[in-house]
Amino acid sequence: MARFLFCLAVALLTVQFTNGQATEPVYNYDETKVGTYILPNALINSKGKAVKTRAEWASRRTELRQLFAENVYGKTPKQAVRLRFQTTSVDSSALNGLAIRKLISIIFVDYPQLPPLDVLLYLPKGQRTVPVFLGLNFCGNHCVTTEAAIPLSTRWMVNGNDDTSLNNKATEKARGMQARRWPITTIIKRGYALATAYYGDLEPDHPTGWRMGIRSVLGASTPGDSTKADNWGAIGAWAWGMSRILDYLQTDPAIDAKRVISFGHSRIGKAAIWAGVQDDRFAAVIANESGESGAALSRRWYGETVERINTSFPHWFCARYKTYNKRVADLPVDQHELLALIAPRPLYVASADGDQWSDPKGEFLGAAYTEPVYALYGKVGLGTMTFPAVNQPIGQTVRYHDRTGKHDVMDYDWEQYLRFADELVR
Ligand code: GCU
Repeated sequence: MARFLFCLAVALLTVQFTNGQATEPVYNYDETKVGTYILPNALINSKGKAVKTRAEWASRRTELRQLFAENVYGKTPKQAVRLRFQTTSVDSSALNGLAIRKLISIIFVDYPQLPPLDVLLYLPKGQRTVPVFLGLNFCGNHCVTTEAAIPLSTRWMVNGNDDTSLNNKATEKARGMQARRWPITTIIKRGYALATAYYGDLEPDHPTGWRMGIRSVLGASTPGDSTKADNWGAIGAWAWGMSRILDYLQTDPAIDAKRVISFGHSRIGKAAIWAGVQDDRFAAVIANESGESGAALSRRWYGETVERINTSFPHWFCARYKTYNKRVADLPVDQHELLALIAPRPLYVASADGDQWSDPKGEFLGAAYTEPVYALYGKVGLGTMTFPAVNQPIGQTVRYHDRTGKHDVMDYDWEQYLRFADELVR
């Protein structure tokens, strides 16, 4: 009897343990365990036909864009939205006299219930039409610089572990808190403008944030409805907002609107790619540590997974994306094809070796596998399949580096982006 009870206890414990193992997600950081995977070929269309010319690529491109919309990010509503651009302040001696600083509110005329999208624009003084880096920020325009004249954002903010926000509102302590990520003086001195806006103006970044943002009014028959398979997600909304800032930039005579670079870090890097893919007016794209569902291959089992991103951030993507959680190999696309949709425009993908969650090698491969598409335009993309050592920028029309250090935007990254812009965009 004792023996039987002992066996029963062991059996029960084993079942529990096994169940625990089965439900416990496993994140792989071991290159030897990545395994094999088969990537879809960007140059084979859905009918199985090889794409050999630019004209054939044009229709394959439309097809791929649609596949990403239907399966990953959701469909961006096509309806035109009436905008009013209201310049609320101009300071011609910003940054110690180096720059002109403008604040512009983009007002959604037909939706007065929505907050405006508040754009902060720095322009180098005494220059005619300049190229511009356009990137959304994580914590309000007041946090990208210490300049006191920038109003503190009154929008919803994530509550951190410090006193930079209280009750989901920014405090004065937040001023300049991400200035290191935005070396505005350096950018201005190199002859570029910088345009930024708080991503939360478009949609606060939490599962019910859409109720306060653009998705509450725009979208199929059920705006914001996360159950509709291909309704757009928050990344779609942020990308859409980048295009609305570009609408404004096209009206500003100080800007060279043919040279607007879509830039973003991390989740905003995912949005920066999606913006560049959907809106051909962007002259180039820079994706800093955009990781899973950004530049990194989804089928490569390393770091963050599709299942994990869909679980932690259910509002970022369309509902159908979640159906691939446990069957990534069934996705009709992978992220190298998303990056290929930027071609023939210049593209920069960057990683950090302390950010294995984003899968640097997967980001590199995402960039490297765009090569045949750039070749259709007679361009060399990355020009190599060899993963470079740290701090070794590589590539031609497509560039890549794996910086030492953590998940962040550092001066090192900007040095490369400015050189890239000088050589390929200007
Ligand atoms: C999380 C998320 C990433 C994302 C990152 C960020 O780590 O898992 O996918 O890129 O946040 O936006 O900082």
